[in-house]
Amino acid sequence: MPNLSLNHNNKPLRVAVLVSGSGSNLQVLIDAMQAGELPIEIVGVISNREDAYAITRTQDAAIPVAVLSHVASGKRIGIKTFEKHAFAQLQDWQPDLIVLAGFMRVLSSDFIQHSIAPMINLHPSLLPAYKGLNTNQRVIQAGERHHGCSVHIVTAELDAGTVLTQALLQVNPKETADSLRLRVQKLEHQLLPWTILLLAKGVLTLNTDSSKDNGSYLPALPLTLFINQ
Ligand code: GAR
Repeated sequence: MPNLSLNHNNKPLRVAVLVSGSGSNLQVLIDAMQAGELPIEIVGVISNREDAYAITRTQDAAIPVAVLSHVASGKRIGIKTFEKHAFAQLQDWQPDLIVLAGFMRVLSSDFIQHSIAPMINLHPSLLPAYKGLNTNQRVIQAGERHHGCSVHIVTAELDAGTVLTQALLQVNPKETADSLRLRVQKLEHQLLPWTILLLAKGVLTLNTDSSKDNGSYLPALPLTLFINQ
């Protein structure tokens, strides 16, 4: 995967976002961009679902959107077809960074390796714990006391790339999977823009691996956000 070159001469970081669902995290990025709080330009959004509310959010913000559905005439289409079109679309938009914000398909190692820009993913757990799906439910079932969300570099292995940032919460005694999901979502809405801000400002770089430190003045990754909620 290419390195994220952060020398943008104060130009906004060109960001493409991949989504599958509601797009509440996308909305936070749009709002922060429009408020001038985040030095990014969202150059386009790709949805793999036609019914994703994220598409409406994108259109409302007059941002280009490509709907590359995984289902055509009731039949599921393979990831390779999606990737072929997504690759062409991303070439067109030329992002500096690709953000998976609630993108629910697993991308092939080929696509990840040949990506035109580094990719980061938002995941609802404290990685490396609870990779994969239904994280909130599994956390409750396991009786965990802590939970949260992570932003990590996308690599061929699912949810296994270097974790850049995390935000934590304490699981309440009467917590349900639903209440936990809402609390994690609130954390995500702070963690994702914060992480992108650190990348855009050059505080965090993506040409790192877990064996190296991230510059002499920073604590070891992941950088952790503690939020009282
Ligand atoms: C978020 O909670 C994100 O962490 C999760 O999907 C949700 C999308 O919400 N992503 C994954 O589970 C990826 N494995 P949103 O569409 O409202 O931003």
